[in-house]
Amino acid sequence: MTNPTIKTMRAHRSIRKFKNEPVAPEDLETILSAAQCAATSNHVQAYTVIQISKPAMRQTIAGICGDQAWIVQAPVFLVFCADLNRLQTACERHAKEMVQGYAEQFVVATVDTALMGQNTLLAAESLGLGGVFIGAVRNDPQRICELLEIPDQAYPVFGMCLGYPDDDPPTKPRLPLGAVLKRETYASEGIDTLMDAYDNTTCQYYRSRDSNLKDETWSHQMAEFMSKVIRPHMKDFLAQQGFFLK
Ligand SMILES: Cc1cc2nc3c(=O)[nH]c(=O)nc-3n(C[C@H](O)[C@H](O)[C@H](O)COP(=O)(O)O)c2cc1C
Repeated sequence: MTNPTIKTMRAHRSIRKFKNEPVAPEDLETILSAAQCAATSNHVQAYTVIQISKPAMRQTIAGICGDQAWIVQAPVFLVFCADLNRLQTACERHAKEMVQGYAEQFVVATVDTALMGQNTLLAAESLGLGGVFIGAVRNDPQRICELLEIPDQAYPVFGMCLGYPDDDPPTKPRLPLGAVLKRETYASEGIDTLMDAYDNTTCQYYRSRDSNLKDETWSHQMAEFMSKVIRPHMKDFLAQQGFFLK
């Protein structure tokens, strides 16, 4: 069974090369206002999206993100922040003191932001645009906060490049559904067989794509990735922004 929504979802692949064609402001507003319709925990809507248009700021952010050229080239670049700050204003309006620093609030704000982000990319893709998430804004989140004047009780979760694709990469195969969908309990029998099959699939994918050909499997890639400490500054940074203390 399929329909246009399912087809759009299945066609997703990150786009890192864009046509030199602007995205109309009203189209971006359509995308973002549709994305806002994502479910949100207790209706808190705990996110803020900052559009970055100035070339110098794009260059600086790209530098923080390991010189990812698409941050400079993309017609649209957005920074998605988890944001509890405006909820503080809501509390003040009603003479209530906002409880702060609970891990639960951090999870709520981060999940809300991720749902908004994914909805944004999907809405964009449904209109023929493409894009890519940029987690590398967390390479130096403190500097991003300074540059974008992100206040206490908010933090940059990821960026996103959007525009009309100037590339048509193949979709990247996902794990077999049986590896991620369990029934009734978290029984994991058969995971080795599934992982063998998926390693074969990913190996063929990496060998057959047009660019960045490599001999690689998913489990090896993950073993490399998961055995390295990535962004160890996040705990202290989040505490500094008022998140994740208790
Ligand atoms: C939260 C998040 C952060 C990401 N950060 C980056 C990034 O900094 N740079 C980049 O080129 N891709 C980034 N990606 C894209 C992933 O590498 C990509 O989604 C993944 O390899 C699967 O490929 P696909 O999106 O083409 O299916 C990010 C994706 C997510 C969800």
